[in-house]
Amino acid sequence: MTANAWTLSYEGYAPQDEPLREALCTVGNGYLATRGAAAEAVPGGVHYPGTYAAGIYNRLSSRIAGQDVANESLVNLPHWPAVTFRIDGGPWFDAGTAQLLDYRQCLDLREAVLTRWLRFRDERGRTTAVTWRRFASMAFAHACAAEVTVVPEDWSGSLEFRSLLDGRVRNCLVARYRDLPAQHLEAVRAEHLSDDSVLLEVRTNQSGIEVAIAARTVSCGGREPAAGHGRLLGGTGWIGHDLAVDVTQGEPVRLEKVVTVFTARDRAIGEPAADAARWLGRLDGFDALHRDHVRAWRRLWPRFRVTVTGDDDAQRVVRLHLLHLLQTLSPHTADLDVGVPARGLHGEAYRGHVFWDELFVFPVLNLRLPDLTRALLRYRHRRLPEARQAAREAGLKGAMFPWQSGSDGREESQRLHLNPLSGRWNPDPTWRQHHIGSAVAYNIWQYYQATGDREFLTHHGAEMLLEIARFWASAATWDPGRARYVIRGVMGPDEFHTGYTADDSGGIDNNAYTNVMAVWVILRALDALAALPEQARADLTDTLELHSVELERWRHVTRAMYVPFHDDGVFSQFEGYEHLEELDWDAYRQRYGDIRRLDRILEAEGESVNRYKASKQADALMLFYLLSADELGQLLRHMGYPLKPDAIPRTIDYYLARTSHGSTLSAVVHAWVLARAHRERAMEFYRRALRSDLTDIQGGTTPEGIHLAAMAGSVDLLQRCFSGLETRADRLVLNPFWPQELGVLELTVRYRQHLLTLHISGHRVQVTAGSGVHRAIKVSCRDETAELRPGTTLRFPLASGHDELSGHGPRR
Ligand code: BGC
Repeated sequence: MTANAWTLSYEGYAPQDEPLREALCTVGNGYLATRGAAAEAVPGGVHYPGTYAAGIYNRLSSRIAGQDVANESLVNLPHWPAVTFRIDGGPWFDAGTAQLLDYRQCLDLREAVLTRWLRFRDERGRTTAVTWRRFASMAFAHACAAEVTVVPEDWSGSLEFRSLLDGRVRNCLVARYRDLPAQHLEAVRAEHLSDDSVLLEVRTNQSGIEVAIAARTVSCGGREPAAGHGRLLGGTGWIGHDLAVDVTQGEPVRLEKVVTVFTARDRAIGEPAADAARWLGRLDGFDALHRDHVRAWRRLWPRFRVTVTGDDDAQRVVRLHLLHLLQTLSPHTADLDVGVPARGLHGEAYRGHVFWDELFVFPVLNLRLPDLTRALLRYRHRRLPEARQAAREAGLKGAMFPWQSGSDGREESQRLHLNPLSGRWNPDPTWRQHHIGSAVAYNIWQYYQATGDREFLTHHGAEMLLEIARFWASAATWDPGRARYVIRGVMGPDEFHTGYTADDSGGIDNNAYTNVMAVWVILRALDALAALPEQARADLTDTLELHSVELERWRHVTRAMYVPFHDDGVFSQFEGYEHLEELDWDAYRQRYGDIRRLDRILEAEGESVNRYKASKQADALMLFYLLSADELGQLLRHMGYPLKPDAIPRTIDYYLARTSHGSTLSAVVHAWVLARAHRERAMEFYRRALRSDLTDIQGGTTPEGIHLAAMAGSVDLLQRCFSGLETRADRLVLNPFWPQELGVLELTVRYRQHLLTLHISGHRVQVTAGSGVHRAIKVSCRDETAELRPGTTLRFPLASGHDELSGHGPRR
């Protein structure tokens, strides 16, 4: 991989690396995304043609290990970029078999355009140069375009292009799922629209969603041979054209393919096929679409300006991460009813499901595209009835949001999962991660803090907060022995511990993160209720039948929730954790090298990770990630647990020594919690977060889809962690601990309608507000607070230490 500040490029063709490259070279626009598979690729080869549209799911059932298993998946849609060619009736071009002289692939991060350039020599010694370009339009989300330019360097003759819309695709990217059914599409129609245009319509075979793709393919340059220019071809589920041209040595021939995609879930359409055909007729060619696409990105990037002057590598990766974030979630997404897919729209891992990962993604979006976060929160709100039903079925009250969510908000976690190391299908109780509800609540509150959007709080946010609070209050049962409330049978973010004995999948009790966050949620729900206009409060409490007796119990739960600690004051990840055995980490590292998925290793050995003090990822430490030390201290005091001064650093050290980092989220959280006290270790984790996908740090997971939370989380480490930026108590708070080696951070954020430019270095913080007529906001930096009015700048000098600042007021 080589790159300048705005490109991701690869030299040479490397079959073993192509799956990773193609995931990282995905082009998308928040409505759909297409992996960077070669245009000539066919399923089953090195490349995996994959196109996914946000929210297009389909459910298939099968029998596994004697059980009926149904899984809903984000559906792989017809391969629209398919174009290949042949010379004088020879074999169709295939990079895998051609004699390649040069090969380069480059994703332009500024423009979101993928270019592939190669030269090859064929069996008759002719040399040909070929360039492919493609993009998914950020200007008009239903448009995609591809272009192929062929230069016959030392020959003249006939060149035949083949351009297809190929719906003969299945979901078979992930090896672990290959025993499961994979055919999600059925053919509806394949039509010839005009001499140069075709239409393919397919339908998902369970959810019944029609997807229509139309393509116009035209060539320029070369001469049309006497025998005729284009020939229509097709069959069930595929259609396209062969186009023949006579070419002359040294003269380029260009083929362009303009595509429209519509689905039955789109708004403002009649019927997908009719709209795909209608819009295809209206769209200009590749160059015009490209111009509009680039202009759309040019408008988007300034809002996402995150510049670090002192680290070019970090800068490139941050841009790559922002690009993939925006290709998955863009302003176009705001009009869809979709959530945040953990693995982007870039592959099939986790079947395109929505987890708690938005917890790591929203902080970046809240401060730039708050309308988008609001829309993503609406995805949760529309599924509130389903979450209520889930709570009811579990014998609880309120709303129990699913750990994995797809189309309708039911629990999509698989009940069995395959350990590829042992070949066994084992129970998967990860649905016990009810802490997802706290993540939803936290995101609502953060959004409200960043935007001050009371309307959202009134109509959607407060209702969800109250129902999640109600869930936690009902899940908390009174333990008379302890005279405290306990929450049993859950799983924490550490997915290793499923129960107390080797094959127990009944969950663990009193996960510290879960219990503390449950209290936080209830308190915020009460705050939200208090913040509502009187009539809205009365209406909502009436709708929810929320009476003072119930609220009184909630308050009691917040004061008397049990939180487990080890004898020495370290947070216990869950009740009983201290009685587990210590793992011989060195021995396992020596034996296996990579022990990130210790759970699988141990299960394959006939052992169980349940027996050990070993976590997959940050669990108790999540508390220090989400809550500042002050806030956590206050919360614990409220619960009757004074937080010992060294409890946080000792808890960090304790779990750091016992975590395998089997999730890419772990590096983000560890960088965060170590940032203030262990700068060097924090930087190590920060760099690990930056490398997560670029180098496929987990050895094989990125080709199956990017890790959106790690990508966004790595940006958030700059914008909120090292900068100490918080949106709380109705003000913007800055408490930088900025690593000198990163130079200066320049950020653009939107806070309560102000467009702010922040410059942060080890010595100074400067905040400039764009012009406008908004109300002044309060900005605090360490001990100073000042008002910032539109069109003005605040400067806070940072002496090396906290104390040296006193006496220095902010400078305007
Ligand atoms: C992690 C979860 C995460 C999921 C999706 C899992 O490996 O343990 O915390 O939500 O991946 O990214």
